[in-house]
Amino acid sequence: MSELFDRGEARIRWIRSRMPLLADARTEFAARQPFAGRRVGMSLHLEPKTAVLLEVLAAGGAEIVATGNFGTTQDDVVAFLRGQGMTVLGSRDDSLEQHHRNVAAVIDAKPDILLDNGADLAAGIVAAGMADSVIGGTEETTSGALRLRSELAGKLPFPTIVINDSLLKAIGENRHAVGQSVVESIMRITNLMIPGGRFVIAGYGWCGRGIAQYLRAFGGRVAIAEVDEIKAFEAALDGYRVDELENLAEWGQVFVTATGHPGVITRDIIDRMNDGAVLANAGHFPWEIDVDALYADAERLTQLDSAIERVDLPGGRHIVLLAGGRMVNLAGTNPKGNSLESMDLGFLLQSLSLERVATDPESLIAGAQPVPDDIEREIARRFVRALGANR
Ligand code: NAI
Repeated sequence: MSELFDRGEARIRWIRSRMPLLADARTEFAARQPFAGRRVGMSLHLEPKTAVLLEVLAAGGAEIVATGNFGTTQDDVVAFLRGQGMTVLGSRDDSLEQHHRNVAAVIDAKPDILLDNGADLAAGIVAAGMADSVIGGTEETTSGALRLRSELAGKLPFPTIVINDSLLKAIGENRHAVGQSVVESIMRITNLMIPGGRFVIAGYGWCGRGIAQYLRAFGGRVAIAEVDEIKAFEAALDGYRVDELENLAEWGQVFVTATGHPGVITRDIIDRMNDGAVLANAGHFPWEIDVDALYADAERLTQLDSAIERVDLPGGRHIVLLAGGRMVNLAGTNPKGNSLESMDLGFLLQSLSLERVATDPESLIAGAQPVPDDIEREIARRFVRALGANR
């Protein structure tokens, strides 16, 4: 086999060994064969953790036709999966046009079941007039769920389970895994000391709670800026300083946005910050920090490393911007993203939801819907057992 295959195989073997929930699902699916005779079309990041998910589905009898998301496909993973007999389209260097052709090819393969990310497959199936041939699917992301509930609302005759609506995912991934990985990334990229440092988190939703929790666990002093009164109340009772961002601008040394909304750290707020303030974003879109205003005001920009930039402003102050305002936990040298265990959880949600779609579609309704409650509870029990938290 090729060098690429060998590299993919070695990396996937390591990841597989840290995903005990998927290992059990693979054994169960091999016995139950929920996808026998079914073709699963997938559009999701092609990286080692996704490969382990695809192995589980294939063990359950699924024929796989898959492509990645634009720009994130890992060629060694593709080589390995092709070696397992799966149809996997795409490579890291694909142009956007080629990526669109790959998605179209997955649709042309007439999948019965969709494993979607961003609702690209669902939208393509509807546009091609093929919606009646699909029995159901899952959607991984918030943005895909939004499309299913707006432009595609009423157009899908089949059920789509939205993994992102899961409370387990919010707790396991948004709170704990994003919390851990954002703090790890800030440490890795800046090498600054957390204990005794002053951190301001904008947004006390799932991600903000986790980031605050892990910064505090490292000895950081944390303040929260939150527009929702109830969440601000919760932050106060959790023991954090709570105030308007304007009032925290001079106090903070490191600012992290986790709101999902645009224009949170504005030029006015940056104007009030102290020399050397560090800005990072954890939200999905690179719009929470007004990077354009920061650059417009800059006297000098110095790229210090791949994900850290010094912005010198008039009057002698400088600001340190991480990852250009893009998601900080996917940035810098050798980013890891969310923990393996949290992806084990997320992909077990995928696996059992897809099994429900394949074997009991009558229990579901047409269109977007949350993960069935009994699946959530079953996975919660399994995760607690796998952690050894009951020992
Ligand atoms: P959430 O909805 O639970 O929390 C967002 C919070 O921000 C809400 O409490 C809201 O009231 C608050 N907020 C909105 N505008 C604000 C403002 N101007 N100032 C202060 N607070 C404000 O959402 P969640 O799950 O915490 O996600 C936040 C963002 O993180 C989203 O963009 C999401 O896509 C992204 N995300 C990033 C991940 C990563 O790996 N970096 C993983 C998962 C989600």
